[in-house]
Amino acid sequence: MTTTTQATAVTGAVGTAHTRVEGRDKVTGAARYAGEIPFDELAHGWMVLSTVARGRIRSVETSAVLRMPGVLTVLHHGNAPRVDSDYVGMLGTPDPTAAVFQHERVPHMGWPVALVVAETSEQAREAAEALVVHYEEEPHDVTFSAGHPDAYQVDGFMPAVTEKGDLEAELAASALVVDAEYTTPEEHHNPMEPHAATALWDGGRLEVVDSNQGTAWVASEIANMFSLDPASVRVRSEHVGGGFGSKGLRAHQVAAVMAATGLRRPVRVVMTRRQMFSLAGYRSPTTQRIRLGARADGRLRALDHSSLSLTSTVHEFVEPSAGVARVMYDADAHHTANRVVRLDVPTPTWMRAPGEAPGSFAVEAALDELAEKCGIDPIELRVRNEPETGPVSGLPFSSRNLLACFREGARRFGWADRDPRPGLRRDGRWLLGTGTAAASFGAGAGPSTAAMTAEADGTFTVRINAADIGTGARTALTLVAADALEVAPDRVQVRIGDSDFGPAWIAGGSMGTRSWAWAVTAAAGELRERLALNTGIPPEGITVRSDTTAAIGALAQKERHSFGAQFAEVAVDPATGEVRVRRMLGIFAAGRIVNPLTARGQLVGGMIWGISMALHEEAVRDRASGGHYGADLAGYHVAAHADVPLVEADWVDDPDPDDPVGIKGIGEIGIVGAAAAIANAVWHATGVRHRHLPIRPDRVLSANSAGGSSA
Ligand code: MOS
Repeated sequence: MTTTTQATAVTGAVGTAHTRVEGRDKVTGAARYAGEIPFDELAHGWMVLSTVARGRIRSVETSAVLRMPGVLTVLHHGNAPRVDSDYVGMLGTPDPTAAVFQHERVPHMGWPVALVVAETSEQAREAAEALVVHYEEEPHDVTFSAGHPDAYQVDGFMPAVTEKGDLEAELAASALVVDAEYTTPEEHHNPMEPHAATALWDGGRLEVVDSNQGTAWVASEIANMFSLDPASVRVRSEHVGGGFGSKGLRAHQVAAVMAATGLRRPVRVVMTRRQMFSLAGYRSPTTQRIRLGARADGRLRALDHSSLSLTSTVHEFVEPSAGVARVMYDADAHHTANRVVRLDVPTPTWMRAPGEAPGSFAVEAALDELAEKCGIDPIELRVRNEPETGPVSGLPFSSRNLLACFREGARRFGWADRDPRPGLRRDGRWLLGTGTAAASFGAGAGPSTAAMTAEADGTFTVRINAADIGTGARTALTLVAADALEVAPDRVQVRIGDSDFGPAWIAGGSMGTRSWAWAVTAAAGELRERLALNTGIPPEGITVRSDTTAAIGALAQKERHSFGAQFAEVAVDPATGEVRVRRMLGIFAAGRIVNPLTARGQLVGGMIWGISMALHEEAVRDRASGGHYGADLAGYHVAAHADVPLVEADWVDDPDPDDPVGIKGIGEIGIVGAAAAIANAVWHATGVRHRHLPIRPDRVLSANSAGGSSA
């Protein structure tokens, strides 16, 4: 193991394995999740979703339902309070996806058309299922394809296009060219804990008890949407059973606030698993064309990456898959472009490594194809194309230890013994192959505030509006605070998930722990100065506050990323088309690792998700109805225990030079490149390129019988 062992603190809590500080509460059930916290006078809302993919609501037949047992109200576009659906949220763009019951238009199958509220959840559900809604149906288009005539270029959260040099001239002059189209399907995050919120008014303040990735974020969006004073909205979210990008402001919180306001009592709305498939966001399918032009020695003359994703007619969300090439590889001519097409489908959203996950599949598979054409080892090809500065930006990298990851990974995986020729190794009926791919993900920090109290009993309390969505962030911050205070971790209590703690970055963009740790470190520095004055601690303790806005704003412009090298070994049964992953190894350069135990869990979890992405996950939309086939975790396949072999994740020393703790962030990089490594291994096993995910048995079979690449 190569865990960082910097001696920057007396206690050295950072860098040593710690079980979760709330672990006992979670396994004993003492930790309550949003949908199970009791409230007096609690009423239950059940959402009714549209059964047509496009059209208008003609009528909502409420009278029969209002006479059903326990029913308190039915909210719909005809009677719900008006909200400001054009507000600009924390992340910069208006997003009316959660602005429910505002109009009669139905933009997709599964759009919320009503909320039935009743005394019990069962009564609400029964009434919701009995509610008759009449629609005026219109023709819909849910068919995503590379050639869709309505596709257009769009920026999203990064520029749509980057361009350098004369692409066509460099391609024409290239000794070797790869020109291929890769596709990835619609994928869903579906965290284990469904979205759930309870809204209530308490002493003139609106309180929402929720499961989300940032309570300040959700609170500010609710305040904006309902035109409330931000100080009058409090959102809490203490324990979160997974988020992956899906847990921001969504229909359930808005519906709960509307109902609680009207009924003057607490109202809880929980999404069902099936509802999550249209209300929780998802990853858009992509079609990506890659063109690589290289000299005979593999050095790139041309790199072209164009990606198309879809979004809804409600909100323009872009899955920016072409962004990853802007970081990874340079070429004399460089072109990347993201396009989108608006269809009659639910709004997609951030899903773990948005852009990088599907983008890395295409880029890293294309690199493998180029390696084959050049007759160069895939790792050596990456060495030859390692950029010195940002390929598009020209900016220096804060640190870039990609090659160290490949060196360490190759050594541990046994890469040197690999025969590059495909289709040669066998184990009985199984064809065996190995593959590799690179990974990267942005390493940033967002402004955050923290409060730290030296208590009279010698302990310390940290209050920071962090979100622990299962990552172990609460534990990581405990370790960071302990080191910064030079005390043992058991003297530190970290309280999170409450918008009243003040603004802080969200659990998103792999920036959570780094952003919060920065604020905690700053507060600890100030508190230690105060304690050094030696005036004694009064009964209420001594509290200091920190705000990292200025420090983070002063960071120099650089390319800031984590990197990694993914390795996979697969076995393919050519008679059945079955692909089994036999082992995976990921070596990451992802900053200083705060807690090796939970960090390994994060990275391995991402890699397992890569297995899922490579072999299983695919939400299939029915063109006729516009809805999903099998919108549940039986119909939507994810890697199950038997699909997951030995998966190892480790890291090389890579402290971030510009971070007070050396952190970069590890939330998302684990999935990046993982599917490409598996697809490349399938090629090595069979000699067949699979450019369309997932690599299903039928695709393996038909490709083998066609003797070429998969369709
Ligand atoms: Mo992540 S997709 O930024 O929650």
